[in-house]
Amino acid sequence: MKRKKIKILVTGGLGFIGSYLTKFLLKKKNYSVTIIDNLSTGSLKNLSKKDIKSKDITIITKDINNLPILEKLVKNHEIIIHLAASVGVKKIVYDSLNSIINNISSTEKILKYCSKHKKKIMFASTSEVYGKINSGKKTLKETSDVMYGSSDKLRWSYAVGKFFDEFYIKAYQEKKKLKAITLRFFNIVGKGQIANYGMVLPNFSNNAKKNKTLLVHGNGNQTRNFTCVKEAVKAIYLLMNTKKAWNETFNIGSEVQISINNLAKKVIKITSSKSKIKKIPYKDVYNKNFEDMYKRTPDISKLKKFINYTPNKTIDKIIRETVN
Ligand SMILES: NC(=O)c1ccc[n+]([C@@H]2O[C@H](COP(=O)([O-])OP(=O)(O)OC[C@H]3O[C@@H](n4cnc5c(N)ncnc54)[C@H](O)[C@@H]3O)[C@@H](O)[C@H]2O)c1
Repeated sequence: MKRKKIKILVTGGLGFIGSYLTKFLLKKKNYSVTIIDNLSTGSLKNLSKKDIKSKDITIITKDINNLPILEKLVKNHEIIIHLAASVGVKKIVYDSLNSIINNISSTEKILKYCSKHKKKIMFASTSEVYGKINSGKKTLKETSDVMYGSSDKLRWSYAVGKFFDEFYIKAYQEKKKLKAITLRFFNIVGKGQIANYGMVLPNFSNNAKKNKTLLVHGNGNQTRNFTCVKEAVKAIYLLMNTKKAWNETFNIGSEVQISINNLAKKVIKITSSKSKIKKIPYKDVYNKNFEDMYKRTPDISKLKKFINYTPNKTIDKIIRETVN
C-alpha cells in the first residue's frame, strides 16, 4: 500500500534556505510541500524546473500578511516551517518599519493558526537574538543572556523582533500546548544566496569574480561562523524527526570562526582574483548610528546531543561551492 505523504507548509520557501529545504524534502519522496512566498527576496529560479513541476509541490506566490486562505493552509498541513521574514542588515536598517511589521505580524498569524488547529511549527530565529554579548573565548548557549544596543540603532530591531517571536512561541507553548522548535541560525551561506541586502560572502564572491575591490566594514577583525546551507537543512530535517526536540530551541551553526578580513583573503585566493581589500567605516556603509557585534560563536552541544549531528564543512569548501 502507498504511504500517505507528510504535508509540510514552508513559508519563505522560494528564499535561500527555504528553497534548499524544499529540494531536500522533495528528494526524500515521502513529503509534499506547499510554499507561500511573496517573492520579496525569494525567486522561482531558486527551484529547478523539475521541482516546480513535481506533483508534490504547490507554490503560492502571495504575502502571508494578506492571504485569506492562510488559516486553511495551516489547517491542511502537519508541520509548518516558518522561514518567511525580512532579512539582511541593509534591508533592516533602511526599511525598518516594513521589516518590523513583517517579522512580527506574519509570525503572529501563523502561531495563532498553528495553535488553533494543533499544528507543529518550526520557527526560523537567528543568532542575532544574542545581540552583542559574545566576547572572549565564550560561546553562545541557548540559555545565554542577551544584550542589545539602544533603540536609535535600528539594526537591533531585527534581533528584538525575532526574540519577541520566540517569546510568543514560549507563551503559546505554555498556555496552549503549542508544539514548536526554534532554530537559531548562525550565518547560513551557500550557492544562490543574494548579495543585495548586505550578505557578506555573496558580496565578496561577486566582486572577486569581477576583480572589484572587496569592501570590509569596520576593521575586519569581527568574526563570524559561516554554516553551509545544506548542513543547516539537514539539521532542520533531523530535528523535525526527533520527538524530544519539540518545544526546544537550538543553535544551528558551525563551530569554526573566521574574521571578515580572513574571509576576504580566502575568497580572493580561491577565485584567483586580482581584487584588493579596502576597509570602510560602518558609518560610510549604513550612514546611520550603527553598531556591529565583534563575534558570534555558537555552542552547539545541545544540537549534537539531540540529533548527533554537527555542521562541519570547512570554510574553504563552502567558499568554493558558493563562488562556483
Ligand atoms: N541566511 C542566514 O544566514 C540566516 C541567519 C539567521 C536567520 N535566518 C532566518 O532564516 C529565514 C530564511 O532566511 P533566508 O536567508 O533564506 O532569507 P531569504 O530572504 O532568502 O528568505 C526569506 C523568504 O521569505 C519570503 N518572504 C518574506 N516576507 C514574506 C511574507 N510576508 N509573505 C511571504 N513570503 C515572505 C521572501 O520572499 C524570501 O523568499 C529567515 O526567517 C531569516 O530571518 C537566516
